[in-house]
Amino acid sequence: MKLFDVYPLFDVTVDHGKGCYVWDDKGQEYLDFYGGHAVISIGHSHPRYLQTLQEQASKLVFYSNAVKNPLQVKLAEKLGPICGYDDYQLFLINSGAEANENALKLASFYTGKKKVIAFTHAFHGRTSAAVNVTQNPKIQAPINATFPVEFLELGDIAGLRASIAKGDVAAVIIEGISGVGGIRIPTAAFMQELRKVTTDNRVVLILDEIQSGYGRSGKFFAHQWFGIRPDIITVAKGIANGYPFAGVLISPMFAPVYGQLGTTFGGNHLGCALACTVLDVIEEEHLIENARQQGEYLISALKTMQIPGLKELRGLGLMIGIEFDYPYKEVRNRLLYEQHVFTGAAGTNVLRILPPLCITQHDCDLFLERFDAAL
Ligand SMILES: Cc1ncc(COP(=O)(O)O)c(C=O)c1O
Repeated sequence: MKLFDVYPLFDVTVDHGKGCYVWDDKGQEYLDFYGGHAVISIGHSHPRYLQTLQEQASKLVFYSNAVKNPLQVKLAEKLGPICGYDDYQLFLINSGAEANENALKLASFYTGKKKVIAFTHAFHGRTSAAVNVTQNPKIQAPINATFPVEFLELGDIAGLRASIAKGDVAAVIIEGISGVGGIRIPTAAFMQELRKVTTDNRVVLILDEIQSGYGRSGKFFAHQWFGIRPDIITVAKGIANGYPFAGVLISPMFAPVYGQLGTTFGGNHLGCALACTVLDVIEEEHLIENARQQGEYLISALKTMQIPGLKELRGLGLMIGIEFDYPYKEVRNRLLYEQHVFTGAAGTNVLRILPPLCITQHDCDLFLERFDAAL
């Protein structure tokens, strides 16, 4: 059997990792400023993570959601105070798309409506409802268009008011910082107005923090920079440092109904144990503060650097976008194949910097030096 060939691959085979470095099968070391797409939060092969993996796997990897799972309760009790949403409820699944799928379903159950407002260049995943609120026709099949969606420009408050005034909107879904869309940061004024308009009209506000959450922006959630509290928050990627895991944080205004949501694998024992260890390490190693400090250091250093063709530099914490007025492809290839640095990308012109939250100033200096050489 052959693989279904949907990924254009780099000619690198990553074999193992440690902290914010990975090595290929020939022993070449790479600086990982991509984190496998913002997934590695506490660093590759963290000793605490490996210990939990071994201990929990030797006890129990999985049992069904039909029985009590104290690890789920432990995770919820740990996550609540750390992220500032102790009064919310946690529903666990396996991936970001699934988190958004369930968030949108909850909003529709709650309001009895089905229209959703999303934003230009939004990316919310590839499953049916999530891809329908993703602004990329190339990845939407005809069967995905099952409910009406209106895409507004980020910051378009007049459009938002006009759309919501029609009375048919179930939810607004927005990324804390748009990732795949090219690191676009909403303004606090817009987010506060968005919160007000949705509250006033009983529209559910969903914050997709799958990429921007879990400390990446220098606060637990990116929306916490804007002083708002959404009704639903979705998390994935960094939650279990590479083990497939995700969550939906649900405001107390939603009452749970037996059987309304469910999953086979979501909230499994191994995932919960790993997610608890990730939170412990984030706290003990002050990784959110580190993300803020190293992010500030990187952004201010990049600002003073001569970057030919630089159009705009955007970022918060360790979610940084370098937009060129030409395609990034050659720079990214030189970074990977000559300088041995992994980076992310968005569209054709934005280089995305998404390193593990444990990077040091030395790693940043190494990145800056190699980036300069690749330009
Ligand atoms: C903001 C955002 N939402 C949702 C997703 C989908 O997550 P997953 O690939 O785990 O389904 C992603 C993935 O890149 C994302 O960046």
